Amino acid sequence: MQRSEQIAQVKVLLASLDSGVNVDAGGIRLNPTDSYINTETAQRERSLFFQSHPQVLGLSGDLPEPGSFITINDLDTRILATRDEKGEFRAFVNACRHRGVAVEERENGRARRFVCPFHSWSYDPQGALVGLPKEDHFGSIDKKSFGLIELAAEEKYGFLFANPDPLASLDVDALLGPELSEELDAWDFGSLVRLGGDRYEVDCNWKLAMDTFGETYHFNSLHKDSLATFFEGNVQCYDTFGQHHRMILCRKAIHAMRELPEDQWDITIAGLPVYWLFPNTILLPNDFGMYLVRAYPDSESPGRHTSVITFYTHSSEDRDGTNGKIGAERKAQIQSAPIEALKEIAQGFADIIRDEDYVASASQQRSAASGALPHVVFGRNEPALHHYHNTYRDALGEAPLPLLEA
Ligand code: FES
Ligand SMILES: [Fe+2]
Repeated sequence: MQRSEQIAQVKVLLASLDSGVNVDAGGIRLNPTDSYINTETAQRERSLFFQSHPQVLGLSGDLPEPGSFITINDLDTRILATRDEKGEFRAFVNACRHRGVAVEERENGRARRFVCPFHSWSYDPQGALVGLPKEDHFGSIDKKSFGLIELAAEEKYGFLFANPDPLASLDVDALLGPELSEELDAWDFGSLVRLGGDRYEVDCNWKLAMDTFGETYHFNSLHKDSLATFFEGNVQCYDTFGQHHRMILCRKAIHAMRELPEDQWDITIAGLPVYWLFPNTILLPNDFGMYLVRAYPDSESPGRHTSVITFYTHSSEDRDGTNGKIGAERKAQIQSAPIEALKEIAQGFADIIRDEDYVASASQQRSAASGALPHVVFGRNEPALHHYHNTYRDALGEAPLPLLEA
């Protein structure tokens, strides 16, 4: 986020605190609980949002050097992403061109060759078929035509994007729009390194996982003994960027900004930005790096999903705060923090999501599945929930949820 925007948003939060007036969606909306349990809806979402829509596969730091790879197994199309010898990011269908076995099973690593475990056809990081035992049994097979199937992929603003549909194209700038592109660029996410991560299989629809990141109304209740210690509940900034959105949660540390000149204001000290990239990605840039959350629907049941949470931090050289985004005192703490301490902070955050948010999400799912609760209510102070669901509905060709007076 650009400096000028950070200052502007800190002012919005302070004004909101001082006036006691939160963001306002202008009314309420009723969301049918059917949207969390309907198998036909779930199938259409998987097809339109997860089989043929661009996906965030990770950050540049997930492929730190030529020869690095990661695999993504949470989509119907399994993906192998590599950084080739020239340093270029590529993404492939992780399926051997002989008879379809995944050529790489490990989650990440380094490899000069991907050797299929079934009959040992081998591929290089550019996806080329470079060897097959007993090649003469395949006659005059043209190896060039049997490389791994490549997907449209683009590394931009520190993200690894790919489209799981081999026939589809990809344009990250068109996907994000100019305003959000510029803002994400300013964060310098490309310099982050992977710190760790976790994954949770939860008995709730993937949209309920997204919903839990859509308001701070619940902080003083659900998180009263955890996040509410550090955050002002029910205070936030909210802006949309086409399909996507940005919330900024308000940290109690914001009050320190009142004593500092504006050029020392820092949005990651004053708040916690929460971006949503349609359809399933939440970014939480913070003072030591970023948390990335992606929710994937279960292939069998609308009532289950997998959340993949990844933590990133600035490399040790960058943790000196030269990017100017970290306030002096916090900068000193982070500089001196051993990597294990940062991992612990990140895991603590993920634990709260698992043990508090997703417990509530699973309870919501159970109520939805009962059929006895026709709809849920999105309040005036929950604009992100209005936007999530009307964006999903629009993408599915459904009418928006109407705004009701409240
Ligand atoms: S399926 Fe891969 S070598 Fe046969
Ligand atoms: Fe929460």
